[in-house]
Parts: sequence; C-alpha cells; structure tokens
Amino acid sequence: MSCDLHNMQKERICDRFFSRKNSVFRSRYEGREAVVKAFTNDAAGTALKEYSVLKTCRAKKVAAPIPIGLKEAVIVMEYVEGPTLAEFLDAAWSISGDHADGHHQVQDVAESLGAWLADFHGAFDYTLSRGDASIRNFIISRKGIVGIDFEESGEYDIIDDIGEACASVLSMRPMFSHESEEFCRCMVEGYASKAGPARIARLNEAAARALERYAEFRSDGDEMVRKAIEIRKSGLFSGEE
Ligand SMILES: Nc1ncnc2c1ncn2[C@@H]1O[C@H](COP(=O)(O)OP(=O)(O)O)[C@@H](O)[C@H]1O
Ligand SMILES: [Mg+2]
Repeated sequence: MSCDLHNMQKERICDRFFSRKNSVFRSRYEGREAVVKAFTNDAAGTALKEYSVLKTCRAKKVAAPIPIGLKEAVIVMEYVEGPTLAEFLDAAWSISGDHADGHHQVQDVAESLGAWLADFHGAFDYTLSRGDASIRNFIISRKGIVGIDFEESGEYDIIDDIGEACASVLSMRPMFSHESEEFCRCMVEGYASKAGPARIARLNEAAARALERYAEFRSDGDEMVRKAIEIRKSGLFSGEE
C-alpha cells in the first residue's frame, strides 16, 4: 500500500465512525472514497485476519467491502454507502401505523440477513464463525445487505452467529417486541432454507447464551437473563414445541 495512515487521516471525510476499539473513518485512496480501519494496539495479526476474510468473501461472492490494502495494523477497504442494520431497524420501527410496504421491506431484509449468514458460513465450509454478528455490523446498501467487521471471526460454533444476530435484534428497545420476534423468525427461515434445517438445531441455546452475554453490559440486563431462561424452556419463537 503506497499511502500511509498519516496521509489518509489528513484526507479524512466526515467524522469518525462509532467504534469502541478502533479508529474507523472515511478517506480517499488513489482518488476513490475508501474506509480506513486502524486497529488499536498495533494489532497486525487481527488486521491480517479481517483482511483475509474480506478477500475470501470477495472470491466467494459474499457481500462484504472490497479489500483495497493492508499495511501492518491498518486495513483500507471499499466504502459501502447506507445505514447500518441497527439504524435501518430503528428507523423502520419508529414509524407508527400499519405501513404494508415498510413491513415487506423489513421482511426482505430479515430474509436476506439469513441468506447472507448462510452464504458466509458456506463460503468457509461451515467452519468459520463471522463473530460479533450484531446489527451494527451489517450495512443496508442499495445492492442489498453487506457484512462488515470480521476481527472476531474464528473457528467457533457457527450457530453462535445466528444466536447473536437474534439476541442483537431482540434486545433493541423496546425489548422483545413482536416486530423483532418476526424479524428473527424470517431471518432464521432465510438461513435454514439455504444452509439446511439441521444447522439451526441448537439455535435456542445459542440465542439464550448470546442474550446472557449482552445482559452483562446493559442496565436492563435482568430482563434479558429472564428471557434467556424462557427461551431455554419454551423456545425462541412462540408456537414452538
Ligand atoms: N466499509 C465500510 N463502509 C461503510 N461504513 C463502514 C465500513 N466499515 C466500517 N464502517 C462503519 O464503521 C463502524 C465501525 O467499523 P467496524 O469495522 O464495525 O469496527 P469495530 O470493530 O470498531 O466495531 C461500523 O459500524 C460502520 O458504521
Ligand atoms: Mg463493529
């Protein structure tokens, strides 16, 4: 990569993106808009891991930013325009009333999230978990859903990605809404129809575990822990055995 971080910081466009751990911002690279992700603590190994995942996604046609460059602990990648899935759902669900079009649009997004997760797992022969499958790590672009942020990917149990995606949606405030449950149901159907129903056999436990993990960081965590107990007892979706 010919340019250095210092130059790309000088060419920064807009504010930095929200990130707890890293420095992530829009800049220019060879005249094109790009996103720079500089990992804290010079974590070159983590940068290399995320960059390799981006390259495999590109090769296997899984929608993710095109990798542009890697230098030490800095990644440069394609800028993907659009709201994060968290922003998209916040906006969709804050509109009151019965908007049939909006409802169908949200359902489509839920199904395509499930399909994206199945494509990702399939691209890595069902051995790699994307990690951090939170709704902040997907962008709703004009061309469809795009996955970002693979620094926590690893050879963990892939069902945890589906469990975490469910927990992330269900724990949006107001928690455990009917809409969020419907979204998860569509997402899981989208996943199962591509990856096969056997791959969601342990979903209830995975979702309960993810909720318990999220509860540790939330003031309303007690409610999440209670929900996890309920999911283990009665299943994630009402009407389940
Ligand atoms: N390629 C990209 N295109 C557009 N926005 C991005 C891109 N990569 C990251 N972002 C934005 O930056 C935020 C933080 O980036 P992310 O890779 O998720 O870092 P972190 O590990 O700190 O969560 C994302 O939630 C998203 O809003
Ligand atoms: Mg992130």
